[in-house]
Parts: sequence; C-alpha cells; structure tokens
Amino acid sequence: MNPGPTTLLPAAGEATTDAAARCLREGGLVAFPTETVYGLGADAGNATAIARLYQAKGRPSFNPLIAHVGDLAAARRIADFNTEAILLAEAFWPGPLTLVLPKASGCAVADLATAGLDTIAVRVPAHPIAREILRVFGGPVVAPSANVSGHVSPTTAEHVRSDLAGRIDLIVDGGAVEVGVESTIVGCFEVPMLLRPGGVPRLDIERVLGRALLQPPPDTAVDSGQPLAPGMLASHYAPRTRVRLDADRLESGEVLLAFGPDRMPGTHASATMNLSERGDLAEAAANLFGYLRALDARGARAIAVMPVPDHGLGEAINDRLRRAAVRQD
Ligand code: TXA
Ligand code: MG
Repeated sequence: MNPGPTTLLPAAGEATTDAAARCLREGGLVAFPTETVYGLGADAGNATAIARLYQAKGRPSFNPLIAHVGDLAAARRIADFNTEAILLAEAFWPGPLTLVLPKASGCAVADLATAGLDTIAVRVPAHPIAREILRVFGGPVVAPSANVSGHVSPTTAEHVRSDLAGRIDLIVDGGAVEVGVESTIVGCFEVPMLLRPGGVPRLDIERVLGRALLQPPPDTAVDSGQPLAPGMLASHYAPRTRVRLDADRLESGEVLLAFGPDRMPGTHASATMNLSERGDLAEAAANLFGYLRALDARGARAIAVMPVPDHGLGEAINDRLRRAAVRQD
C-alpha cells in the first residue's frame, strides 16, 4: 500500500500537469494547491484509490469527500441542482464554495467517497493549477485537505510534505495558497444551510439567495454522532499544543497568536505571530493555518489567541480557532 517515495514537482507547467493527471489515472494520490488549502486528490471513480486516500490521511471512513470538477456542466453530471444551487454556482464558481446536493442518478463518483450518503459535495476550484489538472485529467477528483486527519490544513507544499511524505505519490508545489481557510459548505436543501463557514463569507451568499442561511442544529454540525457536515468534528484542526482563546494577557510559557495593531503588554516579539498587523481578515485567513503550525512547533505551554472579529471571513477563522481549542484527551 505504501507508494514509496513522494515526488515533489517544484513548479507547474505542462509536464507537471501531465504527470499529475497520469498519476491520478493510475490510481495515485496527488497533492495540489487550490485557492483555499492544498488538496489530496484521487480519481473520484476509483474506489481503490479512494481507499488509499482515506488510509494515507488516517481519516475515519464515515467522513465523505468533496468532488472537484472543472465547471458547472461537469458538476451537473454528478449532482442534481435546484434553482438556488444554480444561482450560487453562477455567482461563486470557480471559487471557495462547496455545494451539498442530491447525487445525480448515474453519478460516476464511488460510494466510498460519499461515505454511503445520497448527497454529494461538489466544488469548482479557482486555482489555475487545480483547474489545469482537472482539465487534463478530464473527470471529477475527490480531494480532502492534504493533511493527516485532525491536523491543521496545509497552506504550503511544505506543510503537505511534513504530514504525508512517503504516504502519497506526488506533491505539486504551487507556493502558498491565497485564501487560507477551506471552502464554505452550503447544503442546498429546501432551506439552504451553512454547513461550514469558509472562504466565501455568509453575507455574500445570503445576498445572492435573498434569504438567510439556516444554521445547522447545534449538535449536528459539530460533535454529534450524525453531523450534517460529518467532518466538522469538534477537535478538527487541532495543534498538539493547547490553544487558549480570547486572551487579553499572556501567561508564562505561552506563545501568542495576535491580531491587529494593538500590542499586548509584556509580550515579546519572538513569542508572537500576528495574523494581520493591520487587522485585515483576508490576510489573517491566509496566515492562520501556517502560523498555528509554526507556533505549535515552539513547544510552548499553550498558544494564546487574541480575539478576532466575527464578521466576513472572521466567522470561518473563529470556527477553526474554536476547533483548534478543543482537545479530546
Ligand atoms: O477548501 C476545501 O473545501 C478543501 C479543498 C482541498 O478543496 N477541501 C476540504 O475537504 O476542506 P475536507 O475533506 O477537509 O472537508 C470536506 C468537508 C467535510 O467536513 C465533510 O464531512 C463534508 O465536507 N462533506 C463532504 N460530503 C458531504 C455531504 N454529502 N454532506 C455533508 N457534508 C459533506
Ligand atoms: Mg480537512
């Protein structure tokens, strides 16, 4: 099962894209950049490749995957779109939005990828390398974030390498990603539901729909036995170091994840990483996972986190921070 050494392809170009598409066709596992985070791709129609993917990530197999496709026409071959889903696809694709829809009859995606559900999560990514790979491969590619299950999502090829080297076949290095948090997931049910806040702010979606998104019932999305977005386990995105939220002072032995121009008294620059000095939420989202990884590596007693405003991309940032703060042990 172990594919042996992982090849790192340093830059995108025709040769890289061809190699990635060939590897997917042969049932291989290919990590590639999307605009949100790096994904670990497998041929969505190949159940063996998908089984290897779950194994490489150490992912619970009840947790279904997002199918990535090149455009709306390709998405409509695997999922049934209602009117609101089409509105959202036209407004935000390609881009950081995932739609959960009924599986189309004859959908070519393996049941293993959807964990036996009769719905499927679909997204059209915007990153040029992801788009090229999808175009040359020519079919849906399932891709969870390219990290070991439960770890912080990767925003650089180096993050992917440190989690998955030796367990996957190929990493396409497209540099640091732009958005930095995963896609927003909307369940296109009778009343549309925000299953996961992410790269498209809730308000932008509500503006297009002309109505509010339902909030999943409190226990479903996060840590019940039957979550609506099954991956939203409370302890997802956990660094090894304890995370302390809403810090207004630094305790001894802690490192600081800061936000905004204000200095916290008594903190040393060397023990601080600032998500965005100028208080910009897009910049903070792009830095979030990389900084959590870097602070986690310091061996501190805890990572103290300054409050981040909850509007716009702040909703996704705070969601990930709350999950990082939950520990199962
Ligand atoms: O930005 C992203 O979405 C990244 C990039 C690589 O595209 N992908 C990503 O995938 O975040 P992953 O596997 O880490 O998260 C997918 C989430 C999980 O929480 C999963 O439970 C949920 O989507 N999901 C997938 N299929 C679903 C379905 N049919 N119904 C409800 N939730 C679903
Ligand atoms: Mg993930």
